[in-house]
Amino acid sequence: MSTQTYAPVDHHVDDPETAVASGDRKIEWARQHMPILAELREQFREDRPFEGETIGMAMHVEATTANLVTLLADGGAEVAITGCNPLSTHDDVSAALNARESITSYAVRGVGDDDYYAAIEAVIDHEPTVTVDDGMDMVAAIHEDYPDLIDTIVGGCEETTTGVHRLRAMDADGELDYPVFAVNDTPMKRLFDNVHGTGESALSTIVQTTNLSLAAKNVVVAGFGDCGRGVAKKAAGQNADVIVCEVDPRKALEAHMEGYDVLPIAEAAEIGDVFVTTTGNRDVITREHFEVMDDGVLLANAGHFDVEVNVEHLDDLAVDRYEAREGVEAFEMPDGRRLNLLAEGRLVNLAAPLGQGHPVEVMDQSFGVQAVCVRELVANADDYDAGVHEVPDELDREVADVKLTAEGVAYDELTDEQREYMGSWQHGT
Ligand code: NAI
Repeated sequence: MSTQTYAPVDHHVDDPETAVASGDRKIEWARQHMPILAELREQFREDRPFEGETIGMAMHVEATTANLVTLLADGGAEVAITGCNPLSTHDDVSAALNARESITSYAVRGVGDDDYYAAIEAVIDHEPTVTVDDGMDMVAAIHEDYPDLIDTIVGGCEETTTGVHRLRAMDADGELDYPVFAVNDTPMKRLFDNVHGTGESALSTIVQTTNLSLAAKNVVVAGFGDCGRGVAKKAAGQNADVIVCEVDPRKALEAHMEGYDVLPIAEAAEIGDVFVTTTGNRDVITREHFEVMDDGVLLANAGHFDVEVNVEHLDDLAVDRYEAREGVEAFEMPDGRRLNLLAEGRLVNLAAPLGQGHPVEVMDQSFGVQAVCVRELVANADDYDAGVHEVPDELDREVADVKLTAEGVAYDELTDEQREYMGSWQHGT
């Protein structure tokens, strides 16, 4: 165990009492719009599936995540949490969590690298038996620095695409020593959170942060995966002219068939007004692109890490950089053009000062999947070897069913004959 003593959030905020009251209000508002978690809360309060477990989490600490945390605590767990991005924490929500029984929160907004990792270590000091990550920083820290803990960890859950990519790479190298569910990859997460959540929240944050319209602007979306598809669709819905940049020919073709312009980023750079990166990859927008951009462009990243827009190149080229508005930094080029970077190039919908993350209803689904996955790991740990696992389909369906029931939406069931027909290879013409 490390000997570091990074303190919970209370030691970092000026007025913990006011922060707790404000955080409680935000958590309560989100709670009212999370019917899946409400249903699971009833079950977990009765069954206490996490009694004796300690859950270590590194996630965006805002009101919807707080509802997952309190749900796990209501199920009997001790929960320790910190952020998974230095700019996405809401300090009031973090303080409100920390004030609750069985929960410790170390998340503080705006921490530097050292404190960011010290807070992850502080969570690990609680000796988690389950980990819940968004981006895999907790799993990485445990494997690198606390391998002794691995024997007592029943498993983990990973929330986002980039985290799942990292875990699969680790697994392929034979380095992942406990089972982790790829929560990101389930239909109930990916098709709603990545598509609708990122589409809506990234664009609404850009619009609110700049007070500019997307209508009649050239919006360049780099990456046409789940997130990019959502951003493109919602931008088109706000009357933008959407240009898609891709490296996968099938995705480029899909974007083309959806009616968007598809261009290499070098060409899109010359005509774009607003740029949104959603690739999960590095150096998507770099020096050569900044050199040809128009005065006044907006640069925003919605991918997990702050590597998609190369801010070092932007800084190298700039003769001046200054805050143009809260959450917007202008980089002035030698010829007078101003390129405006939002949220330091970190994921804009969570890291911009006005960023609130995805709509609550969407996070209800993602966190519903997280909660049933934690329940599955604790109940059936022996069924899962070390490595990355798909979420069992019946768990994903369970979450969808709870949501539809809450929404009052009825749907059909297969008849026995249909089930038999679908499962048979013998029926032909
Ligand atoms: P995805 O894998 O479905 O899509 C990424 C797309 O980017 C792929 O089609 C790929 O071909 C393309 N791509 C890769 N390198 C490229 C390049 N240099 N230029 C153009 N296209 C390129 O991934 P998904 O689910 O869309 O996630 C993207 C990123 O967003 C990840 O980092 C993920 O963790 C993050 N994410 C962010 C959220 C948010 O709240 N902002 C929510 C969910 C995911």
